[in-house]
Amino acid sequence: MRNALHFLVIWLAALAILVGAAWFSLSHTTQAWFDKDLALRSELAVSGARSALLQDLEQGRDANLTPLLEDIARDERILGAAVCSGPRVVAATRAWPRELSCAELGGHLVAVGRPIPSWNSSLPLPGGEVHVSAITLNRGVPTAGFAVVVHDLSFVARREASTRQFLLAAFAILALLASAVTLLSVRILWRGFGHALRQLASGQDDSRRREFQPLLKDLRDLLERLSREEQAELQGGLWSPERLKLTLQRHLHGERMIVMANREPYIHNRQPDGSIRVLHPASGLVSALEPVMRACSGVWVAHGAGSADRETADMRGRVRVPPGEESYSIRRVWLSPEEEQGYYYGFANEGLWPLCHVAHNRPIFRAEDWRHYQEVNRKFVDAVCDEVDGENPVILVQDYHFALAPRMLRERLPGATILTFWHIPWPNPEQISICPWHAELVDGLLGSSILGFHTQQHCNNFMDAVDRFLEARLDRGAFSVARHDRTTLVRPYPISVEWPNHWAQGAPTPEECQAAVRAELGLPLDAKLGMGVDRLDYTKGIEERLRAVERLFEREPEWIGRFSFLQLASPSRTLIDRYQRLNDDVEQLVNRINERFGTGDWKPVILRREHTEPADVFRYYRAADLCYVSSLHDGMNLVAKEYLAARSDERGVLILSKFAGAAHELTEALQVNPYDIEEASGALSTALHMPPQEQAARLRVMRSLVAEFNVYRWAGRMLIEASRLRSREQIAGILSSSQPGLKVPR
Ligand code: F6P
Repeated sequence: MRNALHFLVIWLAALAILVGAAWFSLSHTTQAWFDKDLALRSELAVSGARSALLQDLEQGRDANLTPLLEDIARDERILGAAVCSGPRVVAATRAWPRELSCAELGGHLVAVGRPIPSWNSSLPLPGGEVHVSAITLNRGVPTAGFAVVVHDLSFVARREASTRQFLLAAFAILALLASAVTLLSVRILWRGFGHALRQLASGQDDSRRREFQPLLKDLRDLLERLSREEQAELQGGLWSPERLKLTLQRHLHGERMIVMANREPYIHNRQPDGSIRVLHPASGLVSALEPVMRACSGVWVAHGAGSADRETADMRGRVRVPPGEESYSIRRVWLSPEEEQGYYYGFANEGLWPLCHVAHNRPIFRAEDWRHYQEVNRKFVDAVCDEVDGENPVILVQDYHFALAPRMLRERLPGATILTFWHIPWPNPEQISICPWHAELVDGLLGSSILGFHTQQHCNNFMDAVDRFLEARLDRGAFSVARHDRTTLVRPYPISVEWPNHWAQGAPTPEECQAAVRAELGLPLDAKLGMGVDRLDYTKGIEERLRAVERLFEREPEWIGRFSFLQLASPSRTLIDRYQRLNDDVEQLVNRINERFGTGDWKPVILRREHTEPADVFRYYRAADLCYVSSLHDGMNLVAKEYLAARSDERGVLILSKFAGAAHELTEALQVNPYDIEEASGALSTALHMPPQEQAARLRVMRSLVAEFNVYRWAGRMLIEASRLRSREQIAGILSSSQPGLKVPR
């Protein structure tokens, strides 16, 4: 806009100078032209009577001169004529202007100072400007006198004025025409240029057009530089909280981050003794996102589920965390028991959870639950919008609880960068179509700028679902979906854990943990210890895991009394029947194994069905000789990575289900099919017999991988890609605003 104004001012100034110069030269030219013309006319008028005038003058017949002069002055533009001899008016016409005296004209001649054949000049008179021509009457030197002809110049002024008006109008019309033609040409050119450029950008142009070659080269150079920078940025050493913070500042100009997740990272619970206890929930999502929030600050919008959550939050449901090291806020959303039942227990955990995990548990979809799911998604979106303080916020929507929220957010905050991460598997189209509202879920997720899954397979499944159920433009090469003029990038971002783990700060050494935990569990110092840690969930394969332990004792009874398995099982979703049944089944199974193989005080399986704080889980990780992750189907499973992070002593063995997303990365783990009890019990045996050198070699490889691909890198990659997408959208916005009405794919 400012540029256009500048251009207009410059253009008007140039036009004014041009018109002024033209005006000036025109007045001069016409003046000179009229002077010349009138001098000639006077000569002509006098020439016929010249000899008669001279004769009468020489012979003193002054009375004869007047008729001759009247004859000369017959032209309507001639005011008068006279004959001067020296300073004396010898004869003059009737209309001769009295103000003009021969003396004055003679004075002029004297002033000129040399004999001239004739003399012309414009003179101002009270009645208006006149043109005076004095024509010599002589037969040689000296001059006998002058015939003076006076022309009225007012007609010249009139002509000049009308010429000026005409000129001005012509200039104005010309300037308008020139401006219109210029604007039209620029518009046509720009339109064609923009169109061709977009075709080029969208790959519809074969890019052989010569005029684009320099631009293409520049673009290629720029892209190469950006991708080099991006690679360097991703690779340049370990990712840390500081580096993530810098990335946020550099790429997204330090925008405040808003996380939308069902589970809050700090739950305030009232204890039976009346005190309030802060609990760190057992959740992979929380383990991953909480360090990111500590690094970047911002707001975490979550369900306020703790019994003392309301009293510890302010009027808007806000509380600063982590307690004692406050760096970000939780914004609690309050749900009614009906909403929690329908949205969380019902649609999310009886419907979507079993649907997405192929764990052979029939999903249940109720219309009433769906209604609550929609309402609660809207409620969370309201809370997020209430927290937003700019036009381009960065919103991280987390998990299957909020499949509808990205679209709702996009409608209310068109400029937002919405990064959605689906923490659980995304099944194939046949399976997802079991949900009666599958199209709504897919469409809701496409409100995101970037949609992340743990694995490429989950991305492929999602693209197939879009293809099958919605009207959208898919680019399978770029893994992007264009719908409603917006593009969503679909990308695998394997989630990870913080590195180094902050629970390690001030924690006892692995040796100290081994001794302390064995003492706590009543085990001899040289006893082998295996462990599993999960929410008590049927997808985690806890029963299969325990059966493998049972099978180990059957196959290798020498482990009786020398090997124990500690199962930490945090109660989860306990209002759901299937979880209650699992609780009973696990209890019975543990009792059976302990009855079969237990001796005296010694138990082969130690089951802890209670919440265990992360600091304690960390101690158990350090004490255990092996950790068995037996998920029947899992997006990633961060227990596997946490175990590796805790083993700074490079001791211990990870046994990992090949159906957990982590198996794609942690190839040095002992990978098993958890359904195959023989194979799994064989892996337990291998782990127990594994020499320390092999343990160290395997752990070293996996630990360096987790260190490099830690959760800060996970978040950093998404933010860098989001900022690139944002720049592209801004360029597309500029292009489309230059051509209103033309839809630009973004
Ligand atoms: O690993 C992530 C996750 O499985 C989430 O998908 C889930 O929300 C969370 O852990 C724990 O579940 P909940 O929030 O229901 O306790």
